[in-house]
Amino acid sequence: MFVQRLIGFAILVLLPLAARADDIIHPGQVWLDDRGKEIQAHGGGMLRLGKTFYWFGEDRTASNDPKKRYVSCYSSDDLVHWKFRNQVLKLSDPENLGDHWVLERPKVFYNARTKKFVLYAHLDDRRYKVARVMVAVSETVDGDYRYVKSFRPLGKESRDIGQFVDDDGTAYLIFESRPTRGFFIARLSDDFMDVEKEICLVDAPLEGGAVVHYGGLYYAIGSHLTGWRPNPNVYATATSLAGPWSAFRDIAPPEVNTYGSQSTMMLKVKGSKSTTVIYMGDIWKPKELFDSRYLWMPLTIAGGKLILPPPKSWKINVKGGRYKILH
Ligand code: DGJ
Repeated sequence: MFVQRLIGFAILVLLPLAARADDIIHPGQVWLDDRGKEIQAHGGGMLRLGKTFYWFGEDRTASNDPKKRYVSCYSSDDLVHWKFRNQVLKLSDPENLGDHWVLERPKVFYNARTKKFVLYAHLDDRRYKVARVMVAVSETVDGDYRYVKSFRPLGKESRDIGQFVDDDGTAYLIFESRPTRGFFIARLSDDFMDVEKEICLVDAPLEGGAVVHYGGLYYAIGSHLTGWRPNPNVYATATSLAGPWSAFRDIAPPEVNTYGSQSTMMLKVKGSKSTTVIYMGDIWKPKELFDSRYLWMPLTIAGGKLILPPPKSWKINVKGGRYKILH
């Protein structure tokens, strides 16, 4: 009895401490939004408009209608404090996919020509055999996105997707494809409503694909195909998006399995003094997906080498683009 009370007390007192409200990013800890709720932006992506970042991802809230799939949007100017904006997608099975249908890894692009926000996500049935992307649009960043269509990009099977916008504004979809065993980097059409042109097939069976352009080089990272279980994520470099890509190397010592996480995106934060590239990863809890955590860390990246340092609390000054890992 006493032990139970002690455990109850510890949970009540320690849990809020684990989700501290300070200016620090605590990888792997509960991350609360402005409402005091766990951020639901799993397998997410990021869009920056001016000084504001918009974080989109899978909303796995336990009380969601099990027949629907949800995408949530949060905003922040400092990458630490996140304001819940909207469940931008509350979608019923759009293509007769059946029970346990899948919507994963949503990514939102802003098209300056059409002034529309275009959301891509992986759409599938419970067995992951459909392997398509879906597209939804909105006139505002945090509006209610309307489902438009689904398709197989370039006619290929597509599962995990990633987003990459180059410094010249060109937008690309990254998608993992089988049986080709690799991930494609493909340019979106002018209005972003289609996947138009294959730029490259990165010839490695990896998912959670992400690309960043930094210091004159392209870096691609991805994870091996082990479902929800973490594995040693790897990276390669190229001077052109079209390749050739170098051999893949580990982003962290292989025995730590990417510190229990899986890549979803690399976020480049260009400030007045420096540029920081943030590894955004998911620490999945397959049985309690709503409580999956985020592992964000600044990457050590230069001259063709990319290292994910051991997770520690850290802070970033977005304006200057500088970060500091705390000890
Ligand atoms: C790994 C993928 O990266 C996740 O998005 C999810 O599809 C799981 N596989 C499902 O097992």
